[in-house]
Amino acid sequence: MQQFVIEGGKKLSGEVKIAGAKNSALPIIAASLLTDKKVVLENIPDLIDVRTMIELIQHLGADVIFNHHVLKIHTSKIKKIDAPYDIVRKMRASYYVLGALLARVKKAKVSLPGGCAIGPRPIDLHIKGLRTLGASIEIKDGFINAHTRKLLGHEVNIEGPKGTSVGATINVMIAAAQAKGETIISPAACEPEVIDVANFLNATGFDITGQGTHRITIKGKSSATDVKYSIIPDRIEAGTFAAAAAITRSSITIQDCCPDHLTSILDKLEEIGVMVERGEDNIVVHGTRRLHATNIFVTTYPGFPTDMQAQFMALLSIVPGTSTVKETIFENRFMQALELMRMGADITIEGDTAVINGVNKLSGAYLMASDLRASAALVLAGLVAKGKTVVRRIYHLDRGYEKFETKLRRLGAKIKRQSE
Ligand code: UD1
Repeated sequence: MQQFVIEGGKKLSGEVKIAGAKNSALPIIAASLLTDKKVVLENIPDLIDVRTMIELIQHLGADVIFNHHVLKIHTSKIKKIDAPYDIVRKMRASYYVLGALLARVKKAKVSLPGGCAIGPRPIDLHIKGLRTLGASIEIKDGFINAHTRKLLGHEVNIEGPKGTSVGATINVMIAAAQAKGETIISPAACEPEVIDVANFLNATGFDITGQGTHRITIKGKSSATDVKYSIIPDRIEAGTFAAAAAITRSSITIQDCCPDHLTSILDKLEEIGVMVERGEDNIVVHGTRRLHATNIFVTTYPGFPTDMQAQFMALLSIVPGTSTVKETIFENRFMQALELMRMGADITIEGDTAVINGVNKLSGAYLMASDLRASAALVLAGLVAKGKTVVRRIYHLDRGYEKFETKLRRLGAKIKRQSE
């Protein structure tokens, strides 16, 4: 296993380029299974999760070439209909092949993903949505067994106790692309990645409108065309670098991003005193001023994203005053707090709310990463901590950040990767 070793206290400067969005790439790669036409995807990040999704579609019959962030996919025939446990356990987003397989070959067998470190992550809403389109689904021996004679367009309500679901909205949208008739998903998730999948499907010849609102309409179509599509920049990677500038009190330029997708994150940075210049496809972040405490309410887009909560907790732990972070999407997403406390942070968890009393400094420590975004938070804390920080189990981080330490090093951070 690998770990990062960080010498804290270095200022950052310069420019960092943002990769394509992981959470767009994964469902779009799965959605490519809908068609026997040629699919070319540009700006695909080279991540462990992307490699896992490629492995899965190859298993199902796709021919794939992946080079320099361009992914060419051709699935002339679906050869298998199962997503095995060994792949799904590595990456929950494997469930996106469920909608695509049901649409294309009318059957699918996908291993149940199980829980994960950030709390229970049921997929009941995916199943409910696909059933509404006419799929018969039964859970047996740890697998979701699904089949249908024909998917039929329908009104689909997949709102859960925590609000809309990104994954269920996308899975139903993929399945409905070829269903007979019209499907309306309401309320639908309106995250930028949902819009990206819809735009990809439209570029492929399908007919989706309303993406980006809470009501998506899909008119089923059976034909598709060859497609070349470039995916959006990763807003969470961009947000993480913005937080890196803020926590190290540095100025950096974040290039190749979409500032509009980052509004809630950048607004929050400005609120605490960070200066942000928003360009068309770049952001300049000046974390050099005196910062002050804030309250964060994590919710669905366009609200503050759960995937940025851990990084902001690290930042707020060294901002004077008392801040709070209320997490409303996932039940157990404060795993980073205990590790930050080992570095000297003053954090109390009360149910779904973390109360953070800013301290003057963090001290380097040996830390254990627990999930993807928590890992990023610990690295950010390490950048500003006094002395040496070792972040172990960074395979979590490699799932979602391309060349994270290389990008940080180019900005001036002292961070290296080594075997544990
Ligand atoms: C996606 C993102 C993840 C992000 C999350 C919320 C991907 C690969 N992952 O995850 O990075 O943190 O959106 O923005 O895109 N829920 C149910 N039943 C379901 C599905 C979800 O109860 O069938 C609940 C979840 O447990 C959670 C909430 O709904 O409490 C939102 O989850 P959802 O939006 O579905 O997240 P994911 O698509 O899994």
